[in-house]
Amino acid sequence: MTTAAPLLARLEGFLRDELRQDGAIPLHAPRFDGREAEYVQECIASTWVSSVGAYVDRLERLVAAASGCRFGVAVANGTAALRLALYGLAIGPGDLVLCPALTFVATANAIWAAGARPLFIDSDPATLGVDAAKLAAFLSREAERQGGRPIHRASGRPIAALVPVHVFGHPVDIDAVWAVAAEWGIPVVEDAAESLGSRYRGRECGSFGRVAALSFNGNKLVTTGGGGMLVTDDEELARRLKHLSTTARVPHRWEFDHDEPGFNDRLPNLNAALGCAQMERLPELLAAKRRLAARYAEVLDGVAGVRLFREREWATSNYWLNAVLLPDRAARDRFLDASNARGIQTRPCWRLLPDTGAWTEAMVADGLEGARWIVDRLVNLPSSPSLMMG
Ligand SMILES: Cc1ncc(COP(=O)(O)O)c(C=O)c1O
Repeated sequence: MTTAAPLLARLEGFLRDELRQDGAIPLHAPRFDGREAEYVQECIASTWVSSVGAYVDRLERLVAAASGCRFGVAVANGTAALRLALYGLAIGPGDLVLCPALTFVATANAIWAAGARPLFIDSDPATLGVDAAKLAAFLSREAERQGGRPIHRASGRPIAALVPVHVFGHPVDIDAVWAVAAEWGIPVVEDAAESLGSRYRGRECGSFGRVAALSFNGNKLVTTGGGGMLVTDDEELARRLKHLSTTARVPHRWEFDHDEPGFNDRLPNLNAALGCAQMERLPELLAAKRRLAARYAEVLDGVAGVRLFREREWATSNYWLNAVLLPDRAARDRFLDASNARGIQTRPCWRLLPDTGAWTEAMVADGLEGARWIVDRLVNLPSSPSLMMG
């Protein structure tokens, strides 16, 4: 009990006494005190509730701008965004896609849904994201170039993309990871589902890959209820992704023609309306998140064996979910039990994907020591922006 009890005492004191939180405290709750109801009501009044409408266009502009990109394509959720990005880049059956073993299952599911197969790589405890050195070592050991393309020697399959994830809003070490991808000519699709508003060396996460996928699920910093977005600087790719998301229908006033098989991935205007109102509050939401992280650092300072995960010197994180690192798995589990029993929702990191029933047969680059180190120690703390917004 040497770590869990003092940690819980500090946490409870902060949340219950200082922030006056009674009852159950969720991990993350959305906040709707802007123009959400007004915009949604406007959609209903206008009857423009479905997959075209002014709010969809506006949300695409707002999110693209906040992500440092020229174009946005709104879609039904973050999983669809990732799947559509891969499909749009002609990644599919026969291909391997590198992604971290330490991510939400949606990353791997999207690769699978595009017809490709994930190959799980290790994460760096200093960033929670892809470990560039381990990635480089894996590629030198197990890949070779054939006709300019990297081929996984053992399976004979092309390594068609890399999907790094900015875990809990913390940017991966983009320079280092991108350098490895560039050396091997591997396109990067950013999984920026959790990192709206985060920056790497001053530049927005989501603006570094060929294309990036965001999520507006109800637990994210900005929500549309359910929803997602693709952002890119590539005009041709943006046009193609939008086309594919809209059943590949050839624009015409009344004729139905479709120039290839496509998807129905569009985000309804009703959801986009909610998102536009949320985006208007983005600066305040981000400021609240960063205030909360700063207070957690002060409150938890000096608890023996415990460390709040902080952004690196080159990062400005949105601190979507705050995370503490405990000494070992036993301490982690004691703290999870005790905090949840006291009505404070805390959560471990995801189980490593190759350790889940869905992905036991999947290919794995190495022993995943970094990712396992993180999983054994990390716990997410309540992180709702409302905690710091009165
Ligand atoms: C890292 C990551 N990738 C992808 C997704 C998928 O997003 P969605 O739930 O909107 O499909 C999520 C979130 O849910 C996520 O956290």
